[in-house]
Amino acid sequence: MDTPLLDHCPPTLPREAYVDPAWFAREMRAIWSRDWVCAGRTDQFPAGTIRRIAVAGQSIIVLHDGASLRAFQNVCRHRGSELCATDTAQRGKLITCPYHAWSYATDGRLVSTACATPTPDFRKEDHSLLPVAATEWNGFLFLSLSTNPGPLEPDMGLDALAHWPMTTLKTGHVLEKTLACNWKVYWENYSECLHCPGIHPELCDMVPIYSKGIMSPAEDATSDGTPKAPLKPGAESWTMTGEPSAPAFATLTPQERAEGFRFVTLWPTMYIVAHVDYVRAVTLTPINPEETLLRAEWLFPPETLARPGFDHRTVTDFATIVMEQDGAACEMNQRGLRSPAYTRGTLMPQEFDIARLHGWVKDRLSTGAQP
Ligand code: FES
Ligand SMILES: [Fe+2]
Repeated sequence: MDTPLLDHCPPTLPREAYVDPAWFAREMRAIWSRDWVCAGRTDQFPAGTIRRIAVAGQSIIVLHDGASLRAFQNVCRHRGSELCATDTAQRGKLITCPYHAWSYATDGRLVSTACATPTPDFRKEDHSLLPVAATEWNGFLFLSLSTNPGPLEPDMGLDALAHWPMTTLKTGHVLEKTLACNWKVYWENYSECLHCPGIHPELCDMVPIYSKGIMSPAEDATSDGTPKAPLKPGAESWTMTGEPSAPAFATLTPQERAEGFRFVTLWPTMYIVAHVDYVRAVTLTPINPEETLLRAEWLFPPETLARPGFDHRTVTDFATIVMEQDGAACEMNQRGLRSPAYTRGTLMPQEFDIARLHGWVKDRLSTGAQP
């Protein structure tokens, strides 16, 4: 049987990768300023409003122009004022700078210089807003600061959630938390299950294979290759009881229902866990080398949310417990990484996904340090 296990024990990234401001600045340029970053659900950008979003520390405005979502640098072409000084603002037909009232159309074209009277050498077309690449996938908006962004590349492919009604799902609950750890520490923890037996009793009960410290039967040397039911007998979804919050999505294949859940990962910004009855999306935003904002959003069909007596906690408490456990483990890991006595560690064969992450980070840093 094919095994994903590493055939050697490679070194980890060095300590600096987790604590050093200079390393962090390189990652901001080479990764977070170039790759697609999730900016939220598309329904969080209603027509008539402007939202201010931070991407890799840069301020971006996002608006709906009636046909699609558009993003621009939050900077006026006159003398550089912020165009939007609050997280959300109402807008009229035009985007008007609050300083001297230059106005732009929703496609970024400069329309008016208000009281200023330019001479003939001034060409309005040379002073449009600076566009930021935007794309939508599964009801999420993604932004890239790159002038030439690559394709969106989730690990399971763009169609991984094609049978889930992703664009019609609505947000039922949000958890936001600042974790005292480097963003890669969170991804590393996400990428292995060696910690599961010690850290996640509830999750190991729900997904029995996790109690062996592995993520799939392919990692089990004693397995005969027969896929095992991923959830414990009787459970159909990650909820407090294992009972789904609604009938399974009718569009799922029998195999997708039998899988019980599907993880889709999009470095560096998000992962999605799709269950038979709801979906959870988790995004990461690095704040500084040792702090990361975690945002988890639970998405449900509108009918589930509208059901009388529906209490999202019967669903959301389960993954909240797991994420609290992971967050505490990540912060514990980060505190250890601060020790100057630590230089770097060693990956075990089961940490093949961390090795892949480290390879990806090193590759990005070597090819993309100069935006
Ligand atoms: S800086 Fe925006 S109009 Fe002057
Ligand atoms: Fe975990």
